[in-house]
Amino acid sequence: MEQRYSRESKCFKTARVFPTDVNNHNTLFGGKLMAYIDDIASIAATKHCRRSVVTASTDSVDFLHPIRPSDSVCLEAFVTWTGRSSVEVFVKVIKEDLLSGDRIVAATSFLTFVALNADRKPVPVPGVMPETEEETKLYETAPQRADMRKMRREESKKLAGFLTVKHPWD
Ligand SMILES: CC(C)(COP(=O)(O)OP(=O)(O)OC[C@H]1O[C@@H](n2cnc3c(N)ncnc32)[C@H](O)[C@@H]1OP(=O)(O)O)[C@@H](O)C(=O)NCCC(=O)NCCS
Repeated sequence: MEQRYSRESKCFKTARVFPTDVNNHNTLFGGKLMAYIDDIASIAATKHCRRSVVTASTDSVDFLHPIRPSDSVCLEAFVTWTGRSSVEVFVKVIKEDLLSGDRIVAATSFLTFVALNADRKPVPVPGVMPETEEETKLYETAPQRADMRKMRREESKKLAGFLTVKHPWD
């Protein structure tokens, strides 16, 4: 199977924080940031696979610092590792105070996408070749995260089997 560099899937997005993007604390609404993250991560996964992909899971979104209307928000996403048909994407969110130029990592996230064929069946994807120190660290630590995801998926399936789909008023 072909291999691709992490840099080949890398993408960036910079946005302002508009009044319609904030919560009642006047900081960027978490749901808005999560939508940005899923959006850019799906682009990185598709660039790596050059196929249709679907989001299988989001491990976590760690909100480390609030993002204010005076900041810009810059997202960087790239594929860190692949399994057979699954693709792990890392998203780094940097906020920049537009007046002082101070930059800080405000959030991070790992997402998993699965490449599908025309029948919507999972298909093999190219491997990953990391180059930078950041890419290499994320590549080397990925199998451990994939194992955690497998365990969590089993737990989610068990829970879904137990949950009721009845209307609350029935
Ligand atoms: C994701 C999906 C395609 C997996 O299909 P499936 O038939 O269960 O596939 P498999 O069990 O063969 O798993 C295929 C790969 O996906 C991975 N995978 C499946 N569910 C996963 C999850 N929740 N988290 C991480 N990886 C997952 C498997 O580990 C496997 O990886 P590998 O090929 O690299 O070993 C299917 O569950 C689906 O379509 N889900 C809905 C996706 C969606 O609608 N996303 C939009 C969000 S609203």
